Amino acid sequence: MALVAVHELLKKADQEDYAVGAFNANNMEIIQAIVMAAEMENSPVIMQASQGAITYAGLDYITGIVRIAARNSKVPVALHLDHGTDFDQVVRCFRSGFSSVMYDGSKLTLEDNIAITNRVLEMARPVGVSVEAELGKIGGTEDHVTVSEKEAMFTDPEEARYFVEKTGVDSLAIAIGTAHGQYQGEPKLDFDRLKIIRELTGIPIVLHGSSGVPDEAVRHAIELGVRKVNIDTNIREAFVATMRKVIAEKPDEIDPRKILGPAREAMIEMIRDKIRVFGSSGKA
Ligand code: G3H
Ligand code: 13P
Ligand code: ZN
Repeated sequence: MALVAVHELLKKADQEDYAVGAFNANNMEIIQAIVMAAEMENSPVIMQASQGAITYAGLDYITGIVRIAARNSKVPVALHLDHGTDFDQVVRCFRSGFSSVMYDGSKLTLEDNIAITNRVLEMARPVGVSVEAELGKIGGTEDHVTVSEKEAMFTDPEEARYFVEKTGVDSLAIAIGTAHGQYQGEPKLDFDRLKIIRELTGIPIVLHGSSGVPDEAVRHAIELGVRKVNIDTNIREAFVATMRKVIAEKPDEIDPRKILGPAREAMIEMIRDKIRVFGSSGKA
């Protein structure tokens, strides 16, 4: 199958009330784990590459491996740029054949975010590429901020309505209490804010920083309109914990395949669990 656009996947998810998992892809084993898990669950799936992933692996490698995964797969696969903060990087991803991009202008003023998101949309629309934007600041668990400082960065519902009216973007990443990376305690999501933003914008909402969010909270967020759920940290944890275990058990092992193979298996199981929570099993 050719790469599919994320807005197509999210349209079906919206009609049938589930979310599509967006998993961060950094190397071949991760890409294989994502597509294998999606096939086992007969689920659509989004592979996303961050700017860091592109710097690490190379744009042509990422695009090349994901294209092969999609071509050989029985389920729909999308390739999405995660947190594109650099307009030129977004352009390079268009040229390389990504089927979706996130333009992350969340650190800009509202009007600058709108202006650059619109420039991205002008390029995306004629070629059918999907565009996700971010409003509010999602941040990381390592940003040592107080609860009130965190809430000050949450997405303002009225700004979200205005932003969507001025851009017509396909999906919106919002800040409602999740953060990138490993949580110290249990994250508290502002569901009322999510509900209002969804009602005011009417478009698919994207939940970032979803590793470590309890399954029940993710399910509730999906009931309220989240249609794309981003997972990276849980992949890193499954990958590295398994590698460490194998190396500890077999300190003399020098065949990377015997270390990376079990790591890939562990990622497949974790991703399958997530897909079931998101409700997209059987939706391919
Ligand atoms: O949202 C951030 C993602 O987890 C990507 O992280 O920039 O280290 O690749 P990265
Ligand atoms: P986590 O690493 O917290 O799962 O967040 C992933 C993400 O939001 C990628 O954009
Ligand atoms: Zn993110």
